[in-house]
Amino acid sequence: MQSNGFVLWFTGLSGAGKTTVAKAVIKRLKVEYPHQKTERLDGDIIREHLTKDLGFSKTDRQTNLGRVRFVAQLLSRNNVGVLSSFISPYKEDREIIRDMTTNFIEVFVNAPLEVCESRDIKGLYQKARAGEIKEFTGISDPYEAPENHEIELRTDLEEIDESAEKVIEYLIQNGFLASVPLEGRASSF
Ligand code: ADX
Repeated sequence: MQSNGFVLWFTGLSGAGKTTVAKAVIKRLKVEYPHQKTERLDGDIIREHLTKDLGFSKTDRQTNLGRVRFVAQLLSRNNVGVLSSFISPYKEDREIIRDMTTNFIEVFVNAPLEVCESRDIKGLYQKARAGEIKEFTGISDPYEAPENHEIELRTDLEEIDESAEKVIEYLIQNGFLASVPLEGRASSF
């Protein structure tokens, strides 16, 4: 069965839940749609390897996302479903990625700053407020919220599974996944 190439681009503040939802989605895809090739690209991981040399200035973020865009481009045009989780704060950068990848789907992982800050899973907001981290998105650096996104997740109001379900439903509704999962089809053989 043919796998479809697409790029689910999770954008949002640090702590909004981009990685958490992407992990939940890919877990379901692997079980329910095993023919669908998938790969996850994650800001924290990519920055340890492919973009270790970069910081968080506007230019460095652009370079970071430029390299990620290149990888997403190669994968998506070769029928891989890519799940990318990056803050990607600038609209302009996200639009370039939209234009250069196959089947770009922007997923706005929307949780209010106060919620992300109260979660402060990595303790970074506290450091940013104390001035120990410069150019911190939402505190001392901009985040340009999407306006033409395909999917919006309110991770402050939804359970992780609900958010993941919304994404999977979008993929099904738009023909990116076979509408009947493998288990469902097996019984008709
Ligand atoms: S992006 O802006 O270039 O898209 P990316 O998603 O790769 O950012 O990396 C963001 C992650 O780096 C955050 O989740 C956080 O763990 C860490 N981080 C460290 N410093 C900063 C900062 N100044 N602004 C935002 N995130 C930071």
